[in-house]
Amino acid sequence: MYNSQERVKTLLDALPFIKKFNKEIIVIKYGGAAQTSSVLKQKFARDVVLLSLVGMKPVIVHGGGKSITTMLEHFGVQSRFVDGQRVTCLDSMKIAEMVLSGEINKEIVSLLSNFGAKAIGISGKDGNLIEARAKDFESFGYTGEVETVNPEIVQNILDDGYIPVIAPIAASSEIGHPGFNINADIAASKVAIALQARKILFLTDTQGVLDKEGSLLTKLSVEETNKLIDDGTIHGGMVPKVNACIDAIKGGVKKAHIIDGRVEHSLLLEILTSEGIGTCFE
Ligand SMILES: Nc1ncnc2c1ncn2[C@@H]1O[C@H](COP(=O)(O)OP(=O)(O)OP(=O)(O)O)[C@@H](O)[C@H]1O
Ligand SMILES: [Mg+2]
Repeated sequence: MYNSQERVKTLLDALPFIKKFNKEIIVIKYGGAAQTSSVLKQKFARDVVLLSLVGMKPVIVHGGGKSITTMLEHFGVQSRFVDGQRVTCLDSMKIAEMVLSGEINKEIVSLLSNFGAKAIGISGKDGNLIEARAKDFESFGYTGEVETVNPEIVQNILDDGYIPVIAPIAASSEIGHPGFNINADIAASKVAIALQARKILFLTDTQGVLDKEGSLLTKLSVEETNKLIDDGTIHGGMVPKVNACIDAIKGGVKKAHIIDGRVEHSLLLEILTSEGIGTCFE
């Protein structure tokens, strides 16, 4: 039985972590793969609101791979991925922006508001937050490579006490250009570096990085990660994710974690308890 004394103890156990991360920017990449049910989305939003109300500064960057694929199918456009990154034709670009900026972004903002936080949804086009160029137009179309991150808009939103929710769509410097679709892991990592965030967490649909036998790798170095990419153990959507973790660490973010977004409250378990979950890069 969970009595009131135990409840108080649980709260007090979180105190060192609340102190440690007070006023610190924590970037949370909410993977499309982890946005599986409305119940899970609500729990995620509530966890983020809690982190914000105890004094941390969460910044959310979301993906939406599955929803984009479903919407593309609806319009008869096929999805193609190379090295875990979407190949974006002009139709896919328009649909990706519609799904990411229009649907998923606003759904997260609404949930955060429902649970009592102030949230603002933007994309990388707003305030020129993320400027990109084509990664390789011949092969990837409108999938962009981040050129510059101008974090002022996010800092202003944070300073005003709002939770920024960022859709991974980037601006182009070319007049009349539709902009670029950016892999959300890469966008999150670049934003975390630009803000000099304390921590970055990637919520996805696996326990973390798994080895060949399917066992969780709790800690990874740059060398180990590169070996696992080379031998194919890390493939698909996990490739940009681990690279984003490594870039974040090299760029001054203290810790990067890949955690299971399907597990309820995985965010709180990672941030507010001493039991690390998932895969950690430091
Ligand atoms: N070694 C590995 N360990 C764990 N997952 C792996 C590994 N190699 C490849 N993967 C794949 O990576 C996937 C996670 O990346 P994916 O891009 O699909 O999700 P996401 O980034 O959370 O979502 P989105 O791209 O929509 O934001 C897993 O579902 C798994 O299939
Ligand atoms: Mg992905």
